[in-house]
Amino acid sequence: MFITRRIEFSASHVCANPALPDEENRRLFGDAANPYGHGHNYVVEVTLEGDPDPVSGMVLDLKELKAILNAQVVDSFDHRFLNKEVPPFDRTIPTVENIAIEIWNRIEPSLSRPPAKLHSVRVYETPNLYVDYFGDAR
Ligand code: NI
Repeated sequence: MFITRRIEFSASHVCANPALPDEENRRLFGDAANPYGHGHNYVVEVTLEGDPDPVSGMVLDLKELKAILNAQVVDSFDHRFLNKEVPPFDRTIPTVENIAIEIWNRIEPSLSRPPAKLHSVRVYETPNLYVDYFGDAR
């Protein structure tokens, strides 16, 4: 069984590689390389896989899931300038791909415990663009 919880945060970012010249960043990233940054309303869908616990009837205590996602993701990312305020994005470009990987890395240790395991992290950067990350194993 799969169970998904959705969370949202708003954040700004610059998509540019500081090691590249400005014109190369503009070629690669277009307006997203503007050093003043721009914002997105990110939507994150965290999916757990597991069978319901026979006692609780739940894959993972949903209050606990909500608390973990708030503590590990929303509290750190919401209303932040990712490149300047949220490591590792001071050294890793905060593309939607890298944001999904970072969210996985932050929550996987607290969420993968029997009978639940983290199945996927989906991050929407816009309503028309999202990535799915399944961890290193896939
Ligand atoms: Ni952007």
